[in-house]
Amino acid sequence: MNLSNQAAATLLALTCAAGGTWAQPSSADLGRIEFEANCASCHGVTGKGDGRLKAFLTKAPSDLTTLSKRYGGAFPNQLVWEVIDGRTSTDIGPHGNREMPVWGSAFRTQALQYPGMAAQPEWYVRGRIVALLDYLARIQVK
Ligand code: HEC
Repeated sequence: MNLSNQAAATLLALTCAAGGTWAQPSSADLGRIEFEANCASCHGVTGKGDGRLKAFLTKAPSDLTTLSKRYGGAFPNQLVWEVIDGRTSTDIGPHGNREMPVWGSAFRTQALQYPGMAAQPEWYVRGRIVALLDYLARIQVK
């Protein structure tokens, strides 16, 4: 493989990861790629809640680096999972819908478009949320 082929293969692998299909096992940080692709616009690249869409939202996006601190010291896995998934959320927000996208539905819709995933869409949803939880747990302030 020459250098430009190699670069193209790397780019393809990254694009697949960012687009959500499971790329070959690699050292790529899927949680981080996922966060930067889908969450940073509101929560900011550092997760501090200062993304570029902040100005257009009624509610300020949460600081996602202080979750452990705010929820008693340990990373609140289940709560964060439920908030990200959103399908069981009872918080309908000030205008009748929460401002944060319902990622469980969004990921499921994507899974249904991939022939290899469509039969088990919830595995795919779970994989993407777990990658995000792993990343968020790593960016908590002490
Ligand atoms: C369109 C803007 C937007 C995007 C994109 C977005 N969020 Fe949010 N998020 C919010 C807002 C606003 C809140 C504040 C609470 C609310 O609206 O109900 C929030 C709240 C949260 C919370 C609750 C934090 C707490 O303090 O309890 C978590 C966890 C979270 N977001 C994770 C994510 C993750 C992970 C992604 C990417 C997959 C994401 N968000 C993408 C706007 C967004």
